[in-house]
Amino acid sequence: MHIKEMQSLKNKIILITGGEGLYGSRMLEALSEAEGIVITASPFIENANKVAIQMKTKGLHINVKYVDQSDHNSVLFLKDSIQREFGRLDVFVNNAVARPMKKYLDPLELFAESMRINAIGMFDITREMADLIANNGGGTIVNIASMQGMFGADFNLYEGTQMDSPPDYHFHKGGMIAFTKYLARKLAPFKVRVNCISPGGLFSGHPDTFVSRYVQKVPLGRMAGPDDIKGLVVFLASEASAYINGENILMDGGLHA
Ligand SMILES: NC(=O)c1ccc[n+]([C@@H]2O[C@H](COP(=O)([O-])OP(=O)(O)OC[C@H]3O[C@@H](n4cnc5c(N)ncnc54)[C@H](O)[C@@H]3O)[C@@H](O)[C@H]2O)c1
Repeated sequence: MHIKEMQSLKNKIILITGGEGLYGSRMLEALSEAEGIVITASPFIENANKVAIQMKTKGLHINVKYVDQSDHNSVLFLKDSIQREFGRLDVFVNNAVARPMKKYLDPLELFAESMRINAIGMFDITREMADLIANNGGGTIVNIASMQGMFGADFNLYEGTQMDSPPDYHFHKGGMIAFTKYLARKLAPFKVRVNCISPGGLFSGHPDTFVSRYVQKVPLGRMAGPDDIKGLVVFLASEASAYINGENILMDGGLHA
């Protein structure tokens, strides 16, 4: 197969959750530029519509749908509507995250809320979308975890700022990486490949003190930029990665090299 064909997502039906978010909007753009038929699903329809309008100015068409992944009926409704409207699903990019917890000492209720969305809900939507992909003869799932699912936080980075690294995030992102490996084996007989990306921090107006401490530790000397995740998500979604299954790719500029 020609390499351009292997990297193309032409006519693939692709769902990304939270496609209006920071990393989400960059991946949504990449998947559409690679000629996929892209659907973003989110509880924040207004924000998702705004991103779809921005993409339209770049000549990209994005389909917007509602989902709250913590609500099983909402997940089933999304699954049905994709089946009805598009006839199948080829790629699922599992990108959504909620951040109810901000600090280590926050109440347990916030940890539970996080798990409801980021663990139980994430499991629910993945299982349902995997079913849709398997029923069509196979495809790919790309989980978006974090370097914080692999490593402990460097709390010195946050000193003197309002920032912190909340514990629930490390917990469910670590779970997502382990779940990737489970699914890679579970779904391989159905020709569904499952891989994971663990990004580092994407610059989005962080305090100067944090940024200068952070970039000093990164061999590439900067935080992640808006285009850094585009190639990787298209690679893992496409035939270019056909023999990669159950892998977690750290994308941190060498911070943990
Ligand atoms: N931003 C970073 O620096 C960074 C670093 C490492 C990993 N990540 C990971 O990248 C992914 C995207 O992060 P981001 O910073 O772009 O996030 P973001 O906060 O900008 O967007 C997250 C999206 O998740 C969606 N969402 C929230 N609750 C939901 C629910 N109940 N059901 C369905 N969707 C819901 C929302 O639509 C929201 O746009 C996440 O998985 C995150 O953990 C981000």
